[in-house]
Amino acid sequence: MVQQRFFFLFLIYVSYSCSANSDYLFSIGWYKTSRKSHKVPITHIKDIGPEYFPGDGTYLKIGAKIPVLKELAVHDFEKLLNLNIRSCGILDIHPGAFQFLPKLLKLNLNENDIQHIRKGVFNNLNITFLTLNKNNISIIDSDAFDDMPLLKKVKLSTNRISVWDPKWFKNTPSLAKIWMKRNSLETLPAKAFVNLKENNLVEGGNAGVSLYFKKNKIQKIDPQTFSDLKALRHIFLEHNNLTVLPKNLFEGIENIQIVSVTKNNLSYIDEDLFTGVKRVKNFYLLSNHKIQCVPDVVAKVVENIFFGNMGKLNCTCVRKLSEYTNVISLDTLCPVN
Ligand SMILES: *[C@@H]1O[C@H](CO)[C@@H](O)[C@H](O)[C@H]1NC(C)=O
Ligand SMILES: *[C@@H]1O[C@H](CO)[C@@H](O)[C@H](O)[C@H]1NC(C)=O
Ligand SMILES: *[C@@H]1O[C@H](CO)[C@@H](O)[C@H](O)[C@H]1NC(C)=O
Ligand SMILES: *[C@@H]1O[C@H](CO)[C@@H](O)[C@H](O)[C@H]1NC(C)=O
Ligand SMILES: *[C@@H]1O[C@H](CO)[C@@H](O)[C@H](O)[C@H]1NC(C)=O
Repeated sequence: MVQQRFFFLFLIYVSYSCSANSDYLFSIGWYKTSRKSHKVPITHIKDIGPEYFPGDGTYLKIGAKIPVLKELAVHDFEKLLNLNIRSCGILDIHPGAFQFLPKLLKLNLNENDIQHIRKGVFNNLNITFLTLNKNNISIIDSDAFDDMPLLKKVKLSTNRISVWDPKWFKNTPSLAKIWMKRNSLETLPAKAFVNLKENNLVEGGNAGVSLYFKKNKIQKIDPQTFSDLKALRHIFLEHNNLTVLPKNLFEGIENIQIVSVTKNNLSYIDEDLFTGVKRVKNFYLLSNHKIQCVPDVVAKVVENIFFGNMGKLNCTCVRKLSEYTNVISLDTLCPVN
C-alpha cells in the first residue's frame, strides 16, 4: 500500500517535471546574426522571439535540437529577412509556428526530419524562397502552400514524396521554380501544374516555370500533365523510368528552353511530341539506349538536340537531322560531320 502511494507521488513528480521541461523549445543551442559572425551559445529558450534573441538584425540562424516548432515558435522579428533553422532535428511544425515576421523573405528548413507539411504553417507568409530539401516529407496537405503571393522558389528535393497533387500552389502567382529532385514520384497526373498556369508569363515572351524532377521513379506522364500551363521554361526529367512521352504533351506552350529526358527508358520519340510548340531550345535525349532517331518534324522545332551513350542510333538518320537542327553528340558513337 505504502509502496503504491509512493509510486503514485513519483508519477506526479515525473509528469510535472516533464511538462515543465516541455515549456522550453530547446534547452541548449546557439545562434548567429550574420553568416560570418560567431555562434552565441544560448540555453533554456522558450521561443524564437525578440525576448531571447537580442538585436533587430536581418539574419538569424539557429543551431539546436528542436523536435517540434509549436504555434508562435518563431515570432515578432520586425526586420528579419533571412531565417535559417536547418539541421535542427525538426520532426513537426504546427500551424502558426511563424508569426509576425513581416519582412521575412527566405526560410531555410533543410536537413530536418519533417514528415508532414501542414496547412497553416506557410500560408500567408510573404516569403519568396522556401527550402525544405533533405527532410523526410511524404505528406503535403493540398492547401499547404496556398496563398503565398510572393513565393518564387520552393525546394523539396531529397524527400519521400510519392504523389504529385495538382491542388498544390493555389494563389502563388510568383512561383517560377520548383525543385522536386530525388523523390519517389511514379507518375505526373493530368493538369499537374494548373495552379501555375499564368505564372511567370512575360508579355510578348515566354519566360516560364522551371521544374526540376530529376531522379524520381516517373514511369508515366499523363498526356494532359501540362494542360493549361502557358509558360514552361525548363522541364528536367533526367534519371526517371519513362518509356513513352505522350503525343501533344506540350500543346499550348509556345517556347521551351530545356526539355531533358536523359537517362530514361525511351525507345522512340513521337512525331507529335512538340505539336503546337514553336521552338524548343535544347532537347536532351542522352542514355536512352533504345532510341534510333528523332522524327524530322520534331527536329524542325528544336534548336539543339543532344545525343550520347545511345547504342541503337541510326547514324544515317541522325546525320540527316542536321538539315533541321544542331545535332550535338557527346560521344563518337555517331560522329556528326
Ligand atoms: C503580406 O503582404 C500583404 C501585402 O503587402 C499584407 O497585406 C499582409 O499583411 C502581409 N502578410 C504578412 C503575414 O506579413
Ligand atoms: C521517415 O518517416 C517515416 C514515416 O513516414 C518513419 O517511419 C521513418 O522512421 C522516418 N525516417 C527517418 C529517418 O526519420
Ligand atoms: C521501370 O519500370 C518498369 C516497368 O515499366 C519496371 O519493371 C522497372 O523495375 C522500373 N525500373 C526502375 C529502375 O524503377
Ligand atoms: C525499360 O522498360 C521495359 C518495358 O518497356 C522494362 O521491362 C525494363 O525493365 C525497363 N528498364 C529499366 C532499366 O527500367
Ligand atoms: C536509318 O535511317 C535511314 C534514313 O532515315 C533509313 O532510310 C533507314 O531505313 C534506317 N535504317 C534502319 C536500320 O532503320
